[in-house]
Amino acid sequence: MQDIIQQLEQKRAAARMGGGQKRIDAQHAKGKLTARERLEVLLDEGTFEEWDMFVEHRCTDFGMQDNKIPGDGVVTGYGMINGRLVFVYSQDFTVFGGALSESHAEKICKIMDQAMKVGAPVIGLNDSGGARIQEGVASLGGYAEVFQRNAMASGVIPQISMIMGPSAGGAVYSPAMTDFIFMVKDSSYMFVTGPEVVKTVTHEEVTAEELGGALTHTTKSGVADMAFENDVEALLMLRRLYNYLPLNNREKSPMRASGDPTDRLDQSLNTLVPLNANQAYDMKELILKTVDDGDFFELQPDYAKNMLIGFARMAGQTVGIVANQPLVLAGCLDIKSSIKAARFVRFCDAFSIPVITFVDVPGFMPGTSQEYGGIIKHGAKLLYAYAECTVPKITVITRKAYGGAYDVMASKHLRGDVNFAWPNAEIAVMGAKGAVEIIFREDKNDPVKLAAREAEYKDRFANPFVAGARGFIDDVIQPSETRKRICRSLVMLKDKKVENPWRKHGNIPL
Ligand code: HXC
Repeated sequence: MQDIIQQLEQKRAAARMGGGQKRIDAQHAKGKLTARERLEVLLDEGTFEEWDMFVEHRCTDFGMQDNKIPGDGVVTGYGMINGRLVFVYSQDFTVFGGALSESHAEKICKIMDQAMKVGAPVIGLNDSGGARIQEGVASLGGYAEVFQRNAMASGVIPQISMIMGPSAGGAVYSPAMTDFIFMVKDSSYMFVTGPEVVKTVTHEEVTAEELGGALTHTTKSGVADMAFENDVEALLMLRRLYNYLPLNNREKSPMRASGDPTDRLDQSLNTLVPLNANQAYDMKELILKTVDDGDFFELQPDYAKNMLIGFARMAGQTVGIVANQPLVLAGCLDIKSSIKAARFVRFCDAFSIPVITFVDVPGFMPGTSQEYGGIIKHGAKLLYAYAECTVPKITVITRKAYGGAYDVMASKHLRGDVNFAWPNAEIAVMGAKGAVEIIFREDKNDPVKLAAREAEYKDRFANPFVAGARGFIDDVIQPSETRKRICRSLVMLKDKKVENPWRKHGNIPL
């Protein structure tokens, strides 16, 4: 018995040491924490229950039979974040570069399966050289087992990926199927093929950082949601995000009581929108002044900045915020912003998070690059996402809601539950100038006449009352009372139930 216990302790100690002190030091020298240190920061103290510490690979090629490290390059198990259950895996770069073997994959699959059974999210801390080269196809099979589970878990439990080192080749596709991807600046990168292959195939010379670093994916590709300065900041922010989310698709998000009164008025909002309709203003100011305690967890802040998305709380409950940002491209809808918002709306819908939409949109972005890029299909993603969404939907039009973009942005016609407009809202097919140039083409050489027509059109359509007369707007509200009216609406919508018709699944325009 004593022997067994001693053996057990030896194995545990070996597993804890991963690839050994030298490799741990190398990891630290790169400014990175080890797999276990990361879990210590992520989870509540003392809550981590490790599984499969004694798992070893089964590879016998290339001398691997004599090269086994208990745990096989990934630490798995479950623990708590602010007292709420979470399943985790953390790849250990000190063990075979965190490369994924068949056994390594089985460990990840085991905690994913368990997470699905008990209904709790999975967080993956990725730091891996990809497929375990010595194992070949066994490793590829392992990846595919993980991918299959990612797909099955999608919309059932939240899945979050933190990229904290390399993530190359097919290894990028598990994170890509999760709900959120975060990266650490300067130490993480993701690409399907690395700089060497790129050079050979396309003759482009590019560094790993340029090709797939945190900056690239949070500003250019939109693959990652946010980038953080270092491991500790990244993991602490992940804890913050976790507090907004429900454990699974049958539970509600946790309530967090706030001292911020739900009927708080903010007079400064009455002058937020400039009198000149062509002048921009910062929509984020409205969000910060409306949500509980001014606390807004913005996602993808550096990508498609003409659209704002993120989590906040109102009356203590988690809400998803979607808003046009007039400061960038006048807040118009383009390919990137449509995709960005569509995916977020679908996440909120899957996890019973009410969606609050602030609208100031002059329309879809015109131009060949948009049309050739498929704005028709991509814009339709957002339309589809809002249309199929059954969670409470509250919309506030602060200024422009023109054309197809009016329809798309959670309009009444897409089953918006509560649709408000501010008094200066302009809900119309298009801006007065453009409209007059089309319908009064015969007056195009008479600026005086044209100006009169424009004034007439503005007077007739550039207001919220035409839509209000048809019931497309439930009420025209003072900007100062926006928070109060949304909070009341959320209470009214607490037990909302809407079901879409039965189907295997819809066919969103991908
Ligand atoms: C086995 C690996 C490995 C791998 C790294 N190591 N990658 N072992 N399989 N894929 C080992 C190294 O041998 C080394 O072992 C240790 O990990 C650290 O690696 P270094 O190269 O010293 O570290 P670094 O300089 O930081 O470079 C990291 C790296 C590089 C950029 C990740 O190791 C690398 O390019 N690795 C290969 C990446 C790759 O091609 N993977 C396959 C992609 S294809 P020692 O013992 O010296 O410490 C793929 C297909 C998946 O993933 C498809 C799924 C559908």
